[in-house]
Amino acid sequence: MSQVTSERASERDLGLTTRFIGRRIHRYGSVASTNAVCWELAARGEPEGTVVLADEQTGGRGRSGRTWDSPAGMGIWVSILLSPGLPVDRVAPLSVVTAISVADALRTITGVEIGVKWPNDLVAGGRKLGGVLVESGETVGDPVESAVVGIGIDVAQDEDDFPPELRGRATSIRILTGATPDRDALLAAILTQFEEDYRRYVTGGFPAMRERWRTLSTTLGGSIEVESGGERRSGKVVDISDGGALVIEAEGRREEIWHGDVTLTPDP
Ligand code: BTN
Repeated sequence: MSQVTSERASERDLGLTTRFIGRRIHRYGSVASTNAVCWELAARGEPEGTVVLADEQTGGRGRSGRTWDSPAGMGIWVSILLSPGLPVDRVAPLSVVTAISVADALRTITGVEIGVKWPNDLVAGGRKLGGVLVESGETVGDPVESAVVGIGIDVAQDEDDFPPELRGRATSIRILTGATPDRDALLAAILTQFEEDYRRYVTGGFPAMRERWRTLSTTLGGSIEVESGGERRSGKVVDISDGGALVIEAEGRREEIWHGDVTLTPDP
């Protein structure tokens, strides 16, 4: 496998009782990107629910073509292979669905209140704790055969472990709690919660997740600016649509936002 840069993958049980997520786990020391490895495994016919874990990523991918800092032993760098069979426009909201699952699972284990900043950020203490990257085929009109959900969570870093450009903007479970929890225990809780929420979303759509989003959202009721494809829009966040789009209101008009980077702005 071209992406694997370290020893052979090994499989180890996380003690999961899930039905299909994480029934097969591929663990690596160092890879370029767990999402990329997951796609390679998909091409080889690995089943839905296959999980790829790495201790380190040397080319971790973030949203919008950004890189994701993934040093050895510091975080949870994991990807999940799915076969959603949903239209493309129902696959994108999986990033906020996943962020909700991760926020709830992490809060249960660590006690830290974690917020979700649409569409994919996990936020705590005003800083970014993690993010979600959903990748899928782009065939408009056809059901998406495979999708990869990548999750990155900063767990063990102290302030000076972050590169200078992330200092003051990123945080970790260790910074928030003073302790470094067992990464496998966190991961088991995340995968268990995600399996439940994934099924809930596939059968019930975003309405099945909306109330939890309302509780966890860091932007609901706030004024935001959204940058998407060079275009800027601003308004107050009033809801999330049945389809999973962010609903903003400006000058009495409501608009649905499907993609973009959100910045909170002072109320006008
Ligand atoms: C973001 O906030 O920009 C999304 C970050 C997603 C990072 C994770 S780490 C595991 C998986 N593999 C990758 O290459 N990226 C995702």
